[in-house]
Amino acid sequence: MPPRARRGRILAVAIDQKSGQPLYRQIYGHVRQCILDGRLAPGARLPSTRQLAADLRVSRSTAVQAYEQLRAEGYIEGLGGAETRVSGALPDSFLRTAAREPEQPIPLRCSLTPSARARATAASFRRAVPPMGLGPRAFRAGVPAVDVFPVDTWGRIMARRWGRTPARDLAYGDAFGYRPLREAVADYLRAARGVRCTADQVMIVAGSQQALDLAARVVLDPGDKVWLEDPGYHGARGAFTAAGATVVPVPVDNDGLDVMAGRTLAADARLAFVTPSRQLPLGATMSLPRRLSLLEWAATSRAAIFEDDYDSEFRYASRPLPALQGLDRAGCVLYAGTFSKVTFPSMRLGYLVVPAPLIDVFAAARHFIDFHSPYLEQAVMTDFIVEGHFERHIRRMRAIYHERQVLLVNLARERLGGLLDVRPADAGMTVVGWLGGGLDDVATARAAERAGLHVLPLSPLSVRPLPPALLLGYAGVRDDEIREGVNKLAIVLEQAVRSRLPAESMAHHLMAGSVA
Ligand SMILES: Cc1ncc(COP(=O)(O)O)c(C=O)c1O
Repeated sequence: MPPRARRGRILAVAIDQKSGQPLYRQIYGHVRQCILDGRLAPGARLPSTRQLAADLRVSRSTAVQAYEQLRAEGYIEGLGGAETRVSGALPDSFLRTAAREPEQPIPLRCSLTPSARARATAASFRRAVPPMGLGPRAFRAGVPAVDVFPVDTWGRIMARRWGRTPARDLAYGDAFGYRPLREAVADYLRAARGVRCTADQVMIVAGSQQALDLAARVVLDPGDKVWLEDPGYHGARGAFTAAGATVVPVPVDNDGLDVMAGRTLAADARLAFVTPSRQLPLGATMSLPRRLSLLEWAATSRAAIFEDDYDSEFRYASRPLPALQGLDRAGCVLYAGTFSKVTFPSMRLGYLVVPAPLIDVFAAARHFIDFHSPYLEQAVMTDFIVEGHFERHIRRMRAIYHERQVLLVNLARERLGGLLDVRPADAGMTVVGWLGGGLDDVATARAAERAGLHVLPLSPLSVRPLPPALLLGYAGVRDDEIREGVNKLAIVLEQAVRSRLPAESMAHHLMAGSVA
């Protein structure tokens, strides 16, 4: 005789009325777990649904639903009556393996491809610094003021658009994206950024990160050399490393990427990655002579240039320099921009302007990744731009960001003098603070992280040795958070210097309560 389930055993399901999980799922999950970990043996008899419902004080239909789910998945046999049992057909090996699941990760059986290994290597950068790209926090770089995004306007446009969506827009679309958005982007780029393009050349992408990935797929073969600004953007380094390219770090100075140095290090590179409007992370604007010399190198060596114009909308002191792409007469430049900074990054929309002869090959590359970007976001973004909300929002952001930067720089001068030299920037969403007191930037960033702050150390972004520095983002940080953040940072830095301990061990003092 198979063992009978002890009354009260399964029934001791801790029902949580407030968990948000339907009651039947809670019962189902509990019984399933009992079967998997062997507390209920194959063939064990289960209480009837009537009894189960009475014991757990749930409705009969809830109990029936739980049993139906278990039966559909093959865990039990019979339905509801006295003869409901744990299925006798469950193999022992499955039960033992399943019971081990929570403790032991499944070992990797397939071997990783070289490109997967290259991606993992590129991603290891993320472990060297605190995690990026999460919610806004003092002083997380790269996150815009998402709290002041006009979500009501966006929601209204979205509802209106959805209500009027013609059936044809629910089918597959063009790999380059929704035509009206490409036209709106082309108009904007011609007028605001001096980009020379037609809507045919504009591809809507899932943020500039996808533009980087696409460019790497189309332009690079494994082993090809790529110039990357040093220090430079880790997102670009990751995309090129993942494609199997050899990244050649090229120094930057106050005029941007040093083209002569690039020619000396690797004249035969296939691609150069630059942020000419505002170099990430140091903030220089690439000078005109450097722009022309970069274009000349690319044209003569038949290389491509990836221009990442990621935050040029936020310029406070002077008018933005037009894009490098506007000077290109040889069709070398792939120009990328993003909606991440001017609207919100979780939307994952950006654009890539490709030279006309490359339109078909980029369309083919995109087709085999994800066909194209989702329709609805593109349609809403079109109206957001065409109806003037986009420009209005940028103007508003520009004013807010400028005020936030001034506040941060002034407070840093008052509170962090001698420890962190925070220089004002005439554009963008970040400032650089040069560390004093012989402090190491990675260790200081980790200590700051433990004090509840996020600062990006400069050294993991650079190959050549640079003085230690921290990148501080302010765009998405409210005034009160900036004040509190600077105070916390002052304590972190003062303790590091006073105790003459490496900043890493200093974090323990902070954990012990010096920073609330
Ligand atoms: C240099 C640079 N380019 C581009 C981006 C934006 O990437 P995405 O458009 O994929 O959100 C960032 C984000 O921090 C960046 O720092």
